[in-house]
Amino acid sequence: MRAVRLREYGPPEVLVQEELPDPLPGVGQVVVDVAAIGVNFADTMLRSGRTASATRPRPPFVPGNEVGGVVSAVGEGVDAGLLSRRVITGTGGTGGYAERVAVAADGVFPVPEGLNIETAVALFAQGRTAVGVAREARIAPGDHVLVEAAAGGVGSLLVQIARNAGAGMVIAAARGTHKLALAQRLGADVTVDYGRADWADRVSDATGGDGIDVAFDSVGGIIGRAAFDLLAGAGRFVVFGFSSGMPVDVTVAEVQRRGVTVIGFGPPRVGRPGYAHSLVSEALAEAAAGRLIPVIGQTFPLDQAAAAHAAIEARATTGKTLLIP
Ligand SMILES: NC(=O)c1ccc[n+]([C@@H]2O[C@H](COP(=O)([O-])OP(=O)(O)OC[C@H]3O[C@@H](n4cnc5c(N)ncnc54)[C@H](OP(=O)(O)O)[C@@H]3O)[C@@H](O)[C@H]2O)c1
Repeated sequence: MRAVRLREYGPPEVLVQEELPDPLPGVGQVVVDVAAIGVNFADTMLRSGRTASATRPRPPFVPGNEVGGVVSAVGEGVDAGLLSRRVITGTGGTGGYAERVAVAADGVFPVPEGLNIETAVALFAQGRTAVGVAREARIAPGDHVLVEAAAGGVGSLLVQIARNAGAGMVIAAARGTHKLALAQRLGADVTVDYGRADWADRVSDATGGDGIDVAFDSVGGIIGRAAFDLLAGAGRFVVFGFSSGMPVDVTVAEVQRRGVTVIGFGPPRVGRPGYAHSLVSEALAEAAAGRLIPVIGQTFPLDQAAAAHAAIEARATTGKTLLIP
């Protein structure tokens, strides 16, 4: 089969397509013939060597943590009824940039009727995260909600989830007019370009000076800090990444003085038993019901994985980025 391997940590060009043996299903596993592979911001961090060294695999390896496709073989102990089913699944961290993957049978999610596989893949890591951070934020009707990177994979879903939760005002912050236009189409009431120096003032003005009740911070750095400063009393600041490369610099003393809540969303929270499963299931159900519409912003052939990574790092992508084998 064709697969893309990472030979060493480095720039996108370290991702090279090769021929590898087809996987066989082990005990409790299925083989999925892959139709779509999700590329996440986290993949670019791993590839570049920015992920903590204790948790990163030793090269060479096939990157890729989420795929969708059709079950083509089942291993010992697996219900043969899974054969030919359309599924999405995680790979456990690596192995996804390939035409076939062998994965645990109990980790696959059937793709609901009416959804295509590409759309379902967009709801695995990014849908799980968007549903999860929204749950943790407990968005109440009428809340003013700020979404950073609002045209991105997680952000474009969060705009819709905040809208569906009855937010009083969904404020989408991103860089560039086409990203803001997308966020507006997805339901944002106010769009702000945080490439502009006065962006935080414009958010404050939009709320009539009241500030925001919920901030979803995935960018960090000075943008995340400005979002923190915009919080109203009792506001919730949900941190789930720092694509700028710098986490937000906030002290416990400030949190206490401002009376706000900071919620961190990361692997220990996602890893609670059954939690990730419930998040993916909810994302799929919301999409099947037509309430959540993932944006597939761009697709690349499998052998162009390097170009997909370069586009994400150049902030040139919107919504989900997929590789198609
Ligand atoms: N905690 C979790 O479980 C979890 C799970 C999934 C994702 N995440 C995190 O959530 C965030 C979004 O992930 P995603 O896959 O949906 O990515 P994404 O939002 O599609 O892409 C990242 C976006 O971040 C913005 N950005 C701001 N500064 C940037 C910089 N210096 N370099 C690159 N991008 C920058 C860009 O949007 P603008 O150009 O509009 O600024 C870019 O499009 C990432 O921080 C990721 O690590 C966390």
